[in-house]
Amino acid sequence: MRIILVDNQLEGGERIAEMLRVEHQVLIVQTGEKCLQLFAEFSPDILLVDDLLPDMTVETFYERVKKSPLGDFIWIVAMCSDMKVETRLHYYNIGADDYIFKPLHFGELKEKFRVMARGRCQIEKLWLAHFYANQQQDRMKDLVREKSEEIDSARNMAVFVIAKLAESRVSGMGQHLERIRDYSHVLAEDLYRQGIFPEIDPTFLDDIYNASPLHDIGKISIPDHILGKKGPLTKEEFEIMKEHCAIGAQTLQSAMQNTGYSSFLAMSIDIARHHHERFDGAGYPDGLSGLDIPLSAQIVSVVDVFDALTSHRVYKKAIPPNLVKGMIEQDAGIRFNPAIVKAFLYHFDDLMEIYLANRDTPAEPKSITYEANIEWW
Ligand SMILES: [Fe+2]
Ligand SMILES: [Fe+2]
Repeated sequence: MRIILVDNQLEGGERIAEMLRVEHQVLIVQTGEKCLQLFAEFSPDILLVDDLLPDMTVETFYERVKKSPLGDFIWIVAMCSDMKVETRLHYYNIGADDYIFKPLHFGELKEKFRVMARGRCQIEKLWLAHFYANQQQDRMKDLVREKSEEIDSARNMAVFVIAKLAESRVSGMGQHLERIRDYSHVLAEDLYRQGIFPEIDPTFLDDIYNASPLHDIGKISIPDHILGKKGPLTKEEFEIMKEHCAIGAQTLQSAMQNTGYSSFLAMSIDIARHHHERFDGAGYPDGLSGLDIPLSAQIVSVVDVFDALTSHRVYKKAIPPNLVKGMIEQDAGIRFNPAIVKAFLYHFDDLMEIYLANRDTPAEPKSITYEANIEWW
């Protein structure tokens, strides 16, 4: 053990220290202040302290020892000249862990330190066991985190591939899903930073990035002649096209019934079902309005319109992004949530960067003869 002997008048102090050094590391200091200064470099286990210090009262010294970072680990042995029980009780009260009478008897001191060393050894064993248990727990947590990250990333990849496969039935969609994913994330991040929607948290940001590509998954059930029609849909065809929202949501709902709840799947269902709702309630399939429309779907709605209108589709020409920007601005509070339109306008340059980085080579159909408008599906 490491021991500091704090005394400026101990007779034979050096001799006692020498004898203790056979089994322990021992320093002798004259003052309380010097002893406190040595804590960081010597890290003592025991302080053997005289009842009279030259630079401070023992009460002050004990208090400073106990308040120091090592305070809980250091044992204080008081050296007393007064044998009265009240005196010993006073030392216990102010923080002493043990006492020994002066003049010191080396044999008694040695035995005291042997008993303390045994106690210290048991504490160290317990501490080590606790430390290794914590370390093991941390390793397990890291492992679980790593594995769940692997599973999440495999799931996200699989989901994206399925979404791409479903969309591959519609020609000319290019990198629509990649852009939707990035646009949605940019807007959701901005709304998160503004803190106006408490439901947006880091999980929401991850979920919207991964769930937004599934918005049109229900189109997998729409017949080819409607999906690939090079021109406007008839009223009847449009009614069939509108079903893609409910079909997508039902498909994802049955996935969640099989796998159990996940925030990602719950958001995917919201987006698939409600990305064609309008803020004024004139959308489909449920005619929800305002904040009744799930926020994730409201975000995807803005970016889906932006991307549909700025892209060539088999049924329409692309409109220049600056014109679409104006159209979306005009629809704030009508088709779209004004707060999301505000984020869209504020981040328009960022969206343009995504647009340019993921731009499709247009395969423009020759048969287009009508003007593009804001209808999309
Ligand atoms: Fe879309
Ligand atoms: Fe859609």
